[in-house]
Amino acid sequence: MNKSHTKNINKLKIQENRIRKLRTLSLGNKSNEFESSVNDKKKLIDLCSNDYLALSRDIDVISKAHEISITEGLGSGSSRFISGSRPIHSLLEKKLAGWLNQERVLLFPSGFQANIAAIQSLANRNSVVIADKLIHNSLLVGVKASSAKLIRFLHNDLDDLEKKLLKFKYTNKHIVVVIESLYSMEGSIAPIKQISELCKNHNAQLIVDEAHALGVLGQEGRGLSFNYRDSIDIISGTFGKSFGSGGAFLASNNLIGDYIIQTSGAFRYTTALSPSLAGGALKSLEIIQKNKDWGINLLKNSRLWKEEIQKSCDFKVIGDCQIISIIVGKEDEAVNLQKYLEKNGFLAIAIRPPTVPEGLSRIRLTIRKNLDRDILQRFLTVLKSY
Ligand SMILES: Cc1ncc(COP(=O)(O)O)c(C=O)c1O
Repeated sequence: MNKSHTKNINKLKIQENRIRKLRTLSLGNKSNEFESSVNDKKKLIDLCSNDYLALSRDIDVISKAHEISITEGLGSGSSRFISGSRPIHSLLEKKLAGWLNQERVLLFPSGFQANIAAIQSLANRNSVVIADKLIHNSLLVGVKASSAKLIRFLHNDLDDLEKKLLKFKYTNKHIVVVIESLYSMEGSIAPIKQISELCKNHNAQLIVDEAHALGVLGQEGRGLSFNYRDSIDIISGTFGKSFGSGGAFLASNNLIGDYIIQTSGAFRYTTALSPSLAGGALKSLEIIQKNKDWGINLLKNSRLWKEEIQKSCDFKVIGDCQIISIIVGKEDEAVNLQKYLEKNGFLAIAIRPPTVPEGLSRIRLTIRKNLDRDILQRFLTVLKSY
C-alpha cells in the first residue's frame, strides 16, 4: 500500500459513515426474502436486488444451469480462444442474436468487462467519447482504457448533447456517444430515438447499455434499443439482473463483432463465461420469451408502488420504471431510513455520495416480480410510521 492509499483510507476513517462494510445475506424460504446473518436471522423482504424477474431462484433456470454444468463443466477452464468455447456459448449467442435481431452476439464473463470491450472496440486516442453524466462506472473505465477524450453531457439533455456533438463535428475526431437505456440510480429512461437521430446527423457512433432494461422493457423485454437497433453500433446487456444468472454480452453487426474477437483484451484474455451460467441464462431467455406479459405487469406494479409511496411520505419519489428512489437528501438521514426499514423487515439500501451527488442521498427500491399488494401495504405502513 503506498502513501496515497493510506491517506485515502484515513480520510474515509474520519468520515466513519462513508466506510462501506461487506455483509452476507442468506436466502429466506420465499423467493422475495433474504435472511440476515445478524439480528437473529431476521427475514427481510428484498427491495434492492436487480433480480427483477426473480429468475435467480427459478427452479427451471437452476436445473438447466446444473444440467449444463454436468455436460459441459462448471467452469470453462480457459479463454474462448484456447479451449473454453463450449456448445452452450455458441447456442446462447445464436439465440440472443435471433431474439434481438442482431448479426452478432458475443458473451463476456461480466457486464463490467463487456462495457470496457464495447468502448475499446469503437474508441481510441483519436476519438472523443460523449457520455451521459450518469453512465455506469464500467463505461468510464472503458473510456480511460481506450485513451479517448471524455466529454460529459447533462443527463438525458438532448440540447446539451447536440451542443457537444457540434463542438467536435468539424474536428478530425471520431465521436462515440455512450448512454444507458434505463439508468440504474435515477430509474430514468433515455430518449434513445432522438439520441440515435442526433448521432446519425452528426456522424457519431452510439453504444447503449441495456443492463437494467433487458428482460423487462421494450418489445417483449428486448430492451429499449430494439426499435432503433439499426442506428446503434453496440448494445450491451448483462445476465446478472433480469436474467437471474451471471455474465453478459455485446450485440453488434458482424464487422464490429469480428473486430472485438480479434482485438479485445476483455474478450480474449479472460476465462470464458461459466457454461453453467450460460445454461441458466439460456433458460431465462426462454422463460422471458414465453412470458411476454411479465415486463408489462412489472411496470404496472412499479407505477402503483411509486404512486402509493409518494402518497405516504413527504420525500420526493423518482423513477420511471422498476427502479424507484425515495430522495431523502442528507446521507445520515438516508442511512437512518434504511435502518428503520430493515428493523421492520425490508431490505432497501441507502445510496449515497459518491454514487449520487451530495444532498441527493436516497433509498433505492427495486420492484421485482412477486412483490404483491400485501407486501406493498406492509411497506407503506412502515414508511408512514417513520
Ligand atoms: C448500468 C450497468 N452496466 C453494467 C453493469 C455491470 O454488469 P455486471 O454486473 O454484469 O458486471 C451494471 C452492474 O451494476 C450496471 O448497473
